[in-house]
Amino acid sequence: MTSSCRPSADDPAALSAALAGIVDRMCRDTDRGKVADYIPELACVDPRQFGLSICLCDGSQLNFGDAATPFSIQSVSKAFTLAVALGRFGEGLWRRVGREPSSNAFNSVVDLELEQGKPRNPFVNAGAIVVTDEIMAGRAPRDALAEILWFVRAAAGDNDIFIDESLARSEKVTGHRNWSLAHFLKSSGNLKHDCELSLGTYFHQCAIEMNCIQLARAGRFLAGLNAGDELVSSNHVRSINALMMTCGHYDGSGEFAYRVGFPGKSGVGGGIMAVVPGKASIAVWSPGLNRFGNSRLGTIALEELSLAAGWSVFSVD
Ligand code: DON
Repeated sequence: MTSSCRPSADDPAALSAALAGIVDRMCRDTDRGKVADYIPELACVDPRQFGLSICLCDGSQLNFGDAATPFSIQSVSKAFTLAVALGRFGEGLWRRVGREPSSNAFNSVVDLELEQGKPRNPFVNAGAIVVTDEIMAGRAPRDALAEILWFVRAAAGDNDIFIDESLARSEKVTGHRNWSLAHFLKSSGNLKHDCELSLGTYFHQCAIEMNCIQLARAGRFLAGLNAGDELVSSNHVRSINALMMTCGHYDGSGEFAYRVGFPGKSGVGGGIMAVVPGKASIAVWSPGLNRFGNSRLGTIALEELSLAAGWSVFSVD
């Protein structure tokens, strides 16, 4: 397809038609991936659901399918906590966490041991636990959590966003892998608070519930779509987008960059927040996951959208 006949962000009607086709195909796909079952509450989510919402540079927003259905954002929250931590501590954060992609699963203990307790990046679980621990510095966990929730609500421009307490509590009881990561961090001198406090805060941030409409709005600051309302400095936006591109889908990040070609952050609830800098902020949700723990149909939908609109940042036409 040549660039002149592509649906573009400047032509919302054509883009809307292209997206309607993509969503229709996703809704009819019978291979929906596998819902996360290591968090008991997520195991019973219906995999037939699919939602997509997109905010464009003209201020419009297009919604499709189950865009208004709330879901657990899980690791998508790590993009927001990274923004909060960079805002509070700036480059000092990188003393405690790296900026390199990982080739093992998001909850790998092996990686952490190989790196002597410095997580490879802020998006693997160990790295996100360190980022949250840093946000907690000098205050009670509930105040750190309040700032995280404040940030997400401000980014979305919507106060109707809450934490699913029962999901957070159940992850605290069943999240043994995260407990082992937290204890390893503690033993390496890279966790300032008790494991219980840092993990409790981390589990709560993961249990934030949003729908695609809210999540697409919350991603606008990363796409540069809310000019004049500088929630995060442009330098930090550049850093977060670079990390979402290289690490946002864990050991599936190379595949995501190859197929989709713009930054995104996934969560095991099946959500992905993705941004096309200067053009669009997109939220897609389908609960079934691929082998990397990222939404299977969400990734395919973003790939189709990227191809249709020519939005890969690596495209030259
Ligand atoms: O810590 C966990 O395992 C979950 N609360 C979040 C993991 C996650 O979302 C990974 N993303 N695809």
